Amino acid sequence: MPARIPPARSAALVLGGAALAACAAAFAEGTVAGVAVLAAAASGLFLVRARAQAAAARRETAAALTRLQAIVDSMVEGVIFVDADDRVALVNEAGKALKNLAGPPGRALQDCHPQATREMLGRVMGWLREGQNPGPSHSIIKEKEGRYETTYAPVRARDGSHLGVVMVIRDIADRRRLERRLLDAERLAAVGQMSAQVAHELRNPLNAIAGAAQYLRRILPAHGEVKEYAELIDDEVRRVNHFVDELLKVARPADPVFTPSSVNKVLAEAARRATLARGLSGDALRLALAPHLPPLDLDRAMFMEAVVNLLDNAFDAGGVEPPELASRFEGEGGEGAVVVEVRDRGCGIPAEDLEEVTRPFVTTKARGTGLGLVIVGRAVDQHRASFSLARREGGGTIATVRLPVRTVRAPPAPEAEAAAR
Ligand SMILES: Nc1ncnc2c1ncn2[C@@H]1O[C@H](COP(=O)(O)OP(=O)(O)OP(=O)(O)O)[C@@H](O)[C@H]1O
Ligand SMILES: [Mg+2]
Repeated sequence: MPARIPPARSAALVLGGAALAACAAAFAEGTVAGVAVLAAAASGLFLVRARAQAAAARRETAAALTRLQAIVDSMVEGVIFVDADDRVALVNEAGKALKNLAGPPGRALQDCHPQATREMLGRVMGWLREGQNPGPSHSIIKEKEGRYETTYAPVRARDGSHLGVVMVIRDIADRRRLERRLLDAERLAAVGQMSAQVAHELRNPLNAIAGAAQYLRRILPAHGEVKEYAELIDDEVRRVNHFVDELLKVARPADPVFTPSSVNKVLAEAARRATLARGLSGDALRLALAPHLPPLDLDRAMFMEAVVNLLDNAFDAGGVEPPELASRFEGEGGEGAVVVEVRDRGCGIPAEDLEEVTRPFVTTKARGTGLGLVIVGRAVDQHRASFSLARREGGGTIATVRLPVRTVRAPPAPEAEAAAR
């Protein structure tokens, strides 16, 4: 097969041929017209070569850009380049985590930001362009999906002219989580030092107050007002005692004592306690306990308390349907988990608060301590389990505890559970 000549090359050949022919004519005739034809042909040839070179350069630039994009796309950090006209020229894959910058390139940076921040943004970009110090060269961006730290720096050409601004974005959600845990641990440690003393100072007078109220009720049984106030005193004393108890539990947790246990048995007891404490009948809570769960090493009292706290929250959340307490086994072969879920159709937790509510002393209840979920978290940690709170489809909340089962070889046998009872 004859080799194909690319169109640009064949045009150059044709023109080159014409130039040669014109050259021959000019020499043969020695006329001015011949020389003019020669000059025209030569400049045509030059133009075609220049065009071919420009096309090759464009192809090379495009390939270099593709390579560059692939390199920045593979970076863990987000990279955004804003050109000298303050337009977003490049956003790598990780940078698209910032949703407002994820659109097609070429958009004005101002248009990617909320109105309230545009003036400040314009000022910072101006400072960077003029080479002035814009102050701290990083900022924290809070998005619905998480938190990001951005660092930015001006980009200059060799001659010092401003080419744009490069921003590097780091996802700091994990770091923040860690910092919060440390802060919470510090808070609780501080509470721990005081709690024993506070408990001692509060408990004795509280018991004396409750005893005095009981005495008044006994000697004045027919007095309606005394009865009413005595009950009020009882309620308040119970509440403060509950707070002191919870404080002591999180501040000075006892070492766990693990014994092989039936998860379902502990759950059934927790359900009984939670309903009884509220004077509710058994059908105020739906039980969906899977049969044949493997026995687990549990500190029964600690685990039960965690489940009671979750059930308390589910009851407090309200809703027309009764809350559900469910268990099931997930996994196959050597590894798996017993999953315990408390589901309710109550008021729900706003998505942005799902993490915050697990922190100590965070409560939305007039009489809450904000320690219930901290106690759950402690129990979960001690059992090397995991815990999550999620919004439930259709409304409400699902609290999930996953207890790892690491020794399962075959599907758990019914006898195993019976033996644990
Ligand atoms: N199932 C739920 N539905 C709605 N909100 C919940 C649920 N579980 C927890 N919360 C929210 O989390 C907050 C913290 O819960 P936590 O159990 O730690 O403390 P509390 O319930 O407020 O106080 P306490 O447990 O001492 O009664 C609650 O105040 C509530 O706002
Ligand atoms: Mg609670």
